[in-house]
Amino acid sequence: MKFTFYGHACFAVEIAGKKLLFDPFISGNDSAKDIDINSIQADYILVSHGHGDHIADLVTIANNTNATVIGMLEVTGWIENQGYKNCVGMNLGEMNADFGTVRMVPAAHSSSMPDGSYGGNPVGFVVKTDEGSFYYTGDTCLIMDMQLIPRYGKMDFAIMPIGGHFTMNAADAVIAAEFADCDKVVGVHYNTWPPVTIDTGDAKKRFEDAGRTLLLPAIGETITI
Ligand code: NI
Ligand code: MN
Repeated sequence: MKFTFYGHACFAVEIAGKKLLFDPFISGNDSAKDIDINSIQADYILVSHGHGDHIADLVTIANNTNATVIGMLEVTGWIENQGYKNCVGMNLGEMNADFGTVRMVPAAHSSSMPDGSYGGNPVGFVVKTDEGSFYYTGDTCLIMDMQLIPRYGKMDFAIMPIGGHFTMNAADAVIAAEFADCDKVVGVHYNTWPPVTIDTGDAKKRFEDAGRTLLLPAIGETITI
């Protein structure tokens, strides 16, 4: 599996021959100004909730790629109202895709669309394929529901926010990794703005001390997991 970080909570996972892009927010992120959004390829775009820092570039990239957008019904309804129709709306539960399965799992956060309309519940995702499986928590605090993740299978890695203030911080994410039984975690949602600025050395040490690995790829970097 290949993981590419596009800054904030935007990333792509290449798995089972498909490119899955998550939470496209690039053009409003000063740290990601070297990323050309028109160069981004995607077969699917998965969106965790309706906040601007997760969907600002979604319609542009969807139009460029004709990717299938998977999100909460209220989120995909809003996207369809923007004129982009290749969407699959779902709700908390599991659906089949041509690369495997996508399960929407609870996240404790909020979700409204850029125009203020209701975005449904915010979510995380469990993606399972023949090549491997991973868990993206989405924007959330630490929740007991994460203890259900191992029931869905052994995740090869997880993607978790570590910036605090709006979401889990690194200390929370260490516990989340224990709940989800994940040895490798990619940290996201940090160092974008002052409220989520963290000491990355401290975050890495917290994971090391717990016998786990925190991966922090640079913006634009692709790593093999
Ligand atoms: Ni949010
Ligand atoms: Mn966010």
